[in-house]
Amino acid sequence: IVASFGDQVLQGRKVVVSAGPTYEDIDPVRFIGNRSSGRMGFAVAEAAAQAGAQVTLVAGPVSLATPQGIARRVDVRSAAQMHAAVTAATADADIYIGAAAVGDYRPNSVAPQKLKKHDGAALALQLTENPDILAHLSAQRAHPFLVGFAAETQDVERYARDKLQRKGLDMIAANQVGEGLGFETADNAITLYWADGSAELPRADKALLARQLIERIADRYRAVRG
Ligand code: CTP
Ligand code: CA
Repeated sequence: IVASFGDQVLQGRKVVVSAGPTYEDIDPVRFIGNRSSGRMGFAVAEAAAQAGAQVTLVAGPVSLATPQGIARRVDVRSAAQMHAAVTAATADADIYIGAAAVGDYRPNSVAPQKLKKHDGAALALQLTENPDILAHLSAQRAHPFLVGFAAETQDVERYARDKLQRKGLDMIAANQVGEGLGFETADNAITLYWADGSAELPRADKALLARQLIERIADRYRAVRG
């Protein structure tokens, strides 16, 4: 139980949360995806709403019901669609929390017909890098308070701090994937980093962790933006 949660720490704030994977189509029946379930992002969106925020949830392809209290949900499929939806939704937002596992690459082109096999010959897919949604937001003159996620399999702090700086973020929530934590699991454990500090949120179910995360984000938001 987080006792202070009745305080409505994000009352009146507009918060955009992205969640889930993206799917990058190869042809009409195949895509490149990833193992994000969307559960952490949905829990964060729900916790933000519980804290009094007006929440827009931009969701990749997930099989999750919209949490209680969400003002608006926008469903997208590809990274390009997520980029467009997040850009529109954050135009007047106070905080953007990028919890989505955005696909890093997409096929150069989507085949109009189902690809066929060719007598055992290898198939090479040409991929193009997707735009970085967080980096694009931070490059804008006026942008919301930016929170990123970093799921890493090694060197968590080094990679997370590198992303914090490179993408121009206010905070990053990092977690080690593996050891029964991370994607496709009920529990998670997070270390939060910002320019001059960090905080451990020890292993807990994603709902509890999300509430603690929102409290920390609200603290930093108030410190930085008043
Ligand atoms: N992100 C984003 N746009 C992308 C890729 C990632 O906004 N095209 C965001 C994610 O939503 C997340 C953060 O950036 O909040 C970190 O994502 P991650 O995949 O860990 O970072 P990358 O820069 O893609 O680095 P990596 O090579 O480790 O995948
Ligand atoms: Ca990535």
